[in-house]
Amino acid sequence: MEAGSALGPTPLTGFKDFYQYASTTRVIAGRDLLSSTGFEFQKEGARRVFVVTDEVIRATGLVDRIEAGVTDGGLEVVGVYDRVPQDSSTHVCDECAAAAKEAGADSFLAVGGGSVMDTAKVADAVFTHGGTAREQEGFFLMPRDDDGMGRPHDIAPLACIPTTSGTGSEISMAAVIKDPEEKVKIEIADFPLFPRLAILDPETTRTLPPKVAAATGMDAVTHAIEGYVSTDWSPHQDARSLHALRMIRDNLERAVERGEEDEEARGNMLIAANLAMTIALGSAHAMSHPAGAQFGVPHGMANAIHLPHVIRHNAAGSDEIADRYRDIGEVFDIAEPDIGDALATHITELVDRLGLPTRLSQVGVPEDGIPVLVEGAMGDGTTLLNPREMSEEDYAELYRAAL
Ligand SMILES: [Fe+2]
Repeated sequence: MEAGSALGPTPLTGFKDFYQYASTTRVIAGRDLLSSTGFEFQKEGARRVFVVTDEVIRATGLVDRIEAGVTDGGLEVVGVYDRVPQDSSTHVCDECAAAAKEAGADSFLAVGGGSVMDTAKVADAVFTHGGTAREQEGFFLMPRDDDGMGRPHDIAPLACIPTTSGTGSEISMAAVIKDPEEKVKIEIADFPLFPRLAILDPETTRTLPPKVAAATGMDAVTHAIEGYVSTDWSPHQDARSLHALRMIRDNLERAVERGEEDEEARGNMLIAANLAMTIALGSAHAMSHPAGAQFGVPHGMANAIHLPHVIRHNAAGSDEIADRYRDIGEVFDIAEPDIGDALATHITELVDRLGLPTRLSQVGVPEDGIPVLVEGAMGDGTTLLNPREMSEEDYAELYRAAL
């Protein structure tokens, strides 16, 4: 996970010294799947299901239909926690875990976007292992056999039904949660956090507001692009990133503009976001995490603003980095010699067409907020995975450019 070594920067081509790839979530995708939620979740060991969602989703009636699908399969819904906010916190995860315990649950079913799914993951870890959400922070630190050297201990079965096409949390082993006291986003990642089941059904995004579809779609774009140029790249993820970008190219604008009428575009965006997901990210995410923690900028919107600036900066770092962006450019038919600038311009135009803001000043970030954002970005784990080494001055310059 180092950005480089004494031998120089991590190569972005050739045969790598080491990488590992895991994707252990069973994904089912297609039409009319919600009624078989119980049938499918039972195969993952669930009996007494605790549903995690938010009030907005619950009000659409979607949760009722999924609950009916759970009970149709002979399982029991023992409780529903619907108080997950847009930007969930450690307190919410603790409260959710306690509610599941109180209800006598044996499994979790998340119905929602990234905040809901990440809350369910962390609440499940607390529910299973005890302690607090804050204590779960870290990479590969969950309990294991043989004094921490052996197989990680499973958490209670978790199924995710995403209601946005972007975060990819339904297929990742990571969760990002706000610590409201310290105003930071903490990251938790380990193999047991891979959900056992993800159900992708375009019915769940039928009434998604266009702005949310656009912002979450740009999160998927950012995962695919950052994943492809990350120092933690792998051929496995490359294949996923490039195909995710082709699907996004063909479906994102359709899904945002046509929404309810275009089931095919919505379904394909759910799959594209799922394919794009990786935890090998870079400086756009490093910049967006503090923008969310400090100023409440929605995650996808923050990425949409930061991504073009990071592309320009990274591509100017070396020919090798620029070549990785050239592969991405091919997907969009972009072959200009200055690939960084051409691809960045293409992304900004896309963000603009999607009706999203392109500047931080449009989303409530003041100029004097830059130092605290720089500090947050430098301390974010994804900074280490950016293909170009980043300094405080670099981040300050990028934030100023994005203002
Ligand atoms: Fe993201």
